[in-house]
Amino acid sequence: MPARGQSPTGLEAVGSVAVRTFAAHQSPRMTQTAHPSMDGHHVNAMAGNGSGGNHTHFADYDELPEGHFYDPDAEYEPDPEYAATLAPDAARQRRERVGPTGRPLPYFPIPGPLTSHGPATIIAMCNQKGGVGKTTSTINLGAALAEYGRRVLLVDFDPQGALSVGLGVNPMELDLTVYNLLMERGMAADEVLLKTAVPNMDLLPSNIDLSAAEVQLVSEVARESTLQRALKPLMADYDYIVIDCQPSLGLLTVNALTAAHKVIVPLECEFFALRGVALLTETIEKVQERLNPELELDGILATMYDSRTVHSREVLARVVEAFDDHVYHTVIGRTVRFPETTVAGEPITTYASNSVGAAAYRQLAREVLARCHAE
Ligand SMILES: Nc1ncnc2c1ncn2[C@@H]1O[C@H](COP(=O)(O)OP(=O)(O)OP(=O)(O)O)[C@@H](O)[C@H]1O
Ligand SMILES: [Mg+2]
Repeated sequence: MPARGQSPTGLEAVGSVAVRTFAAHQSPRMTQTAHPSMDGHHVNAMAGNGSGGNHTHFADYDELPEGHFYDPDAEYEPDPEYAATLAPDAARQRRERVGPTGRPLPYFPIPGPLTSHGPATIIAMCNQKGGVGKTTSTINLGAALAEYGRRVLLVDFDPQGALSVGLGVNPMELDLTVYNLLMERGMAADEVLLKTAVPNMDLLPSNIDLSAAEVQLVSEVARESTLQRALKPLMADYDYIVIDCQPSLGLLTVNALTAAHKVIVPLECEFFALRGVALLTETIEKVQERLNPELELDGILATMYDSRTVHSREVLARVVEAFDDHVYHTVIGRTVRFPETTVAGEPITTYASNSVGAAAYRQLAREVLARCHAE
């Protein structure tokens, strides 16, 4: 990686926009393989923590703990391509401390350590639209929460088993999966649980067997609350249980919503992002009324955001217009680092610990924790 000053083009053009490297999470391997250009645009979009603003509810720059926030004045990795990826309004965003959603970007504090664990808050990662970042967000939000000392259980609730694959598990080789836990009376969760390479994070894996559950559950009594019953014995052991839903609003997804306290809806910043969201919110409301009064929409997570394209910015503006405060301040940028992590079978927080993608999911974890604690 080039040192500061080696690339005058990048240095001049980029000015003071930069990201502090995440010292607490750096590993030498990652430093060698990092591609700052891939993440550069996202840095700009998120660089809303600049000093000198007069919003008193923001912690002042000097008071913020090191290594956990975007710092426009910190050392950065000069990159000639980086200037080209600058968001047109990055400077304004920085000056006014506005986040990518166009709202003032609050500071989300680093959560303190826990002295005891549980009972778990259950989050369903849900959107019936395919390929919007549900699985990616489940893995990386989970890993970031685990890094902050939370005990996390991830539930693969998609027969495709993408969550399991993303954590390095081959679903075809599994004898026992979440399917057995759902359908076999007396099956203990311990027999199905897998430890992941991330400390504090376990997995209930799935594979194609789970597709049979959708049909078999139909004739069961209280078929919508089967997952809720299966997770009950695990509640005391975890702080967060995150369920990765399949892209449909069928019985499996209704089971996830019935078990959950909160829903996170990832939305890709692309054409038709909002198409189908009305049906999703309707389904959430129905589950709320009939099956699970505790359920609430925690937030809408904008994913695959590219601040370089007008289109991406427009979609995000529309999403904020439609959902207002429900939209997380944290926005996940588009970067090839995410597909790479799937191949590597690990979260971005360990695969590219000091990347902007990892930082974004850490910020999301802090925002989710802040929302939970604000209640
Ligand atoms: N922020 C991102 N930037 C670039 N690529 C991404 C990002 N997030 C996810 N991807 C990639 O997009 C694809 C779809 O993501 P993911 O599998 O997380 O979506 P999904 O909603 O779970 O999909 P499905 O509905 O099929 O379960 C994957 O190849 C993933 O690596
Ligand atoms: Mg998925």
